[in-house]
Amino acid sequence: MRSSYSLLVLASAALMSACESKPAETPPEAPKTLHERLGGTAAIATVVDAFVANVAADARINKRFARVAGDTGAMRQFKQKLVDQVCAGTGGPCTYTGLDMKAAHNGMGITDADFDALVEDLVKALDGAGVPQKEKDELLAILGPMRADMVIK
Ligand code: HEM
Repeated sequence: MRSSYSLLVLASAALMSACESKPAETPPEAPKTLHERLGGTAAIATVVDAFVANVAADARINKRFARVAGDTGAMRQFKQKLVDQVCAGTGGPCTYTGLDMKAAHNGMGITDADFDALVEDLVKALDGAGVPQKEKDELLAILGPMRADMVIK
């Protein structure tokens, strides 16, 4: 009786030390979201600032933004919507509460050339912030399909 008890104690001690000596398992790292790779919401806000400045200086399309350009509060809200939209669309912890793209641009008569000009202004802002090609391509791939919702046929 005593010896089988000792055996049991030995066996469980052996088992326990086997468990202890097992290397700690490190969970596989989750792939980083585009939001994270862009540098987070603050970095997105910096790009949005530069983008809006580029649009304001772009004679091809800046007249369309006269309302927000002439109203500090409206401009702040507009930029916030852009940040929320990009943040949410790239997997970040934001909620976009603005209009959907069809409703937001309805009746503006936006052409392909307008859309291309705006994308050019965005790329300039992304380049200025040093966003790598891969992340730039991924963001443009998210925004590109929106063209169909706003450009006149
Ligand atoms: C991927 C491309 C685009 C995105 C992601 C985008 C995004 C947005 C967003 C989030 C809003 C605010 C919606 C709201 O008020 O709830 C907005 C408004 C607006 N967008 Fe766009 N847009 C794009 C392209 C364009 C283009 C090509 C033009 C014209 C050149 C344009 C002109 C405007 C104007 C004039 C407003 C209203 C600004 C105001 O409040 O007065 N957008 N857009």
